[in-house]
Amino acid sequence: MARFTLPRDLYHGKGALEALKTFKGKRAMVCVGGGSMKKFGFLDKAVGYLKEAGMEVELFEGIEPDPSVETVMKGADAMLKFRPDWIVAIGGGSPIDAAKAMWIKYEYPDTTFEDMCKVFGIPELRKKAHFCAISSTSGTATEVTAFSIITDYQKGIKYPVADFEITPDVAIVDPELAETMPKKLVAHTGMDAITHAVEAYVSTAHCDYTDPLALHAIKMIQNDLVGSYNGDMAKRDSMHNAQCLAGMAFSNALLGIVHSMAHKTGAAFADKGAHIIHGAANAMYLPKVIAFNAKNPEAKKRYGEIADFMHLGGNNDDEKVKLLIDYLRKMNDDLNIPHCIKNYGADSYPVEQGFVSEETFLERVHDIAVNALGDACTGSNPRQPSVEEMEKLLKCCYYDTEVDF
Ligand SMILES: NC(=O)c1ccc[n+]([C@@H]2O[C@H](COP(=O)([O-])OP(=O)(O)OC[C@H]3O[C@@H](n4cnc5c(N)ncnc54)[C@H](O)[C@@H]3O)[C@@H](O)[C@H]2O)c1
Ligand SMILES: [Zn+2]
Repeated sequence: MARFTLPRDLYHGKGALEALKTFKGKRAMVCVGGGSMKKFGFLDKAVGYLKEAGMEVELFEGIEPDPSVETVMKGADAMLKFRPDWIVAIGGGSPIDAAKAMWIKYEYPDTTFEDMCKVFGIPELRKKAHFCAISSTSGTATEVTAFSIITDYQKGIKYPVADFEITPDVAIVDPELAETMPKKLVAHTGMDAITHAVEAYVSTAHCDYTDPLALHAIKMIQNDLVGSYNGDMAKRDSMHNAQCLAGMAFSNALLGIVHSMAHKTGAAFADKGAHIIHGAANAMYLPKVIAFNAKNPEAKKRYGEIADFMHLGGNNDDEKVKLLIDYLRKMNDDLNIPHCIKNYGADSYPVEQGFVSEETFLERVHDIAVNALGDACTGSNPRQPSVEEMEKLLKCCYYDTEVDF
C-alpha cells in the first residue's frame, strides 16, 4: 500500500493571502523570519487578515535561514505559553520548516529533537493546533510537503524531519510574495525545485500520482526559471506554482542522493565562513548524480523520458541523459551558479578558488560521505552507492570531474 498526502486546502493566485480572513479559531501564532516579510508588508497584511477573522495574534519573529534546533525549542516554548489553535508560518523554507518542528514540540512537549528525526515516527498532531504555510520563495515547496529541515550546528549537519503528520493543513501559494525575491534567491530556489522534480521522477517510490506532477513541474521550470531570474514577473508567478507541483511530487515520491549530499555538505564548512546554499548545492550535484544513477537501466530510461518531455532530442537513452546533463549545466551558467564546490565562492558566485579549500574538503569528505549515506533521502535513490562511491561522487562534485563509475 502506498500513501499520497497533500494539504486539505491550497489557495493560489494573486491575493490568495486573503484566505486567512476565512480561518476559524481563537489564537494564531505567526512564525516568520528575519525581516523580508515585514519589510514588504506581507506580515502586516497576514496579521490584519487573521485579526479580521476574529483571532488574537502573536508573532514569533527572527527565525534564521537554515534554522537551528535551539530556535525550534524557543518557538515551541512561546507556543506553549500562548496556546495557539492555528500556527501560521510565512516566508521561505526556513521559517516554515522551523514552525513545523515547533508544532511537534508544542503538541508533545516531551519530544526531543532525536525523536523528531525518526523518519515517519511523529505521533498524531492537530490535538492543539492546525498549520497553515505561506511560501515566499519558489523552491522548497515546504507549504505542501511532509518535511522540515533543521540544522544541528554542533554537528554541522542538516536533519530532515519527515512525516505526513507535518504536511500543512492549508497552503497559501500567492505569487505576489515571490515577486520581491532578489535574483540570487530566484536562482537557488528554482534549481532546488527542478532537483525536487527530477529526483522525484526517478525515485524508487515514484508512482502514477507523482509522475505527472514531477514532469509538469520540470516543463514549467524549463520554460520559466531563467526568464524569472531575468525579471519577467509573469514567469516569476508561474515558477511559484511550478515549485509547488514539484513539492507535491517529492513529498509523496521522496527524493534521492542529490539531497542527501546537499544536506550533509550545507553546513559542513560553516566554520570556514559560509554555507553551501541548499539550492546551489543541488544545482551543482544534480548533473553528477544523474550520470551516476544512469548506470541503473531503469533510472536511465526515466531520465530519457524527462529529456523527451523537455524536447531535448537524442536518439537513444545515453544521448538523452547526456543532453539532460548539458541542459542543466547550461541552466547553472545562465543563473550564475558554479559547477562545483571548488569554484563556489563565499557569496555563492563562481570563483577560481572558493571558500572550501581542497585540503579542508579532502579532510572531511569521508565523514560527509558516511553522513550522506545515512540521510533519509538516500533510501529512495534509484542506485545505492557504497561509501567509496559516495566519496568519489563527492570528489567529482568538488573538482567538477566526470562521473565514470
Ligand atoms: N521542507 C522541505 O520540504 C524542504 C525542501 C527543500 C529545502 N528545505 C530547506 O529550506 C531552507 C531554504 O529555504 P529557502 O530556500 O526558501 O530560503 P530561506 O527561507 O532560508 O530564505 C532565504 C533568505 O531569503 C529571504 N526571503 C525569503 N522570501 C523572500 C522574498 N519573497 N523576498 C525577499 N527576500 C526573501 C529570507 O529573509 C532569507 O534571508 C533550507 O534550510 C533547506 O534545507 C526544505
Ligand atoms: Zn530541496
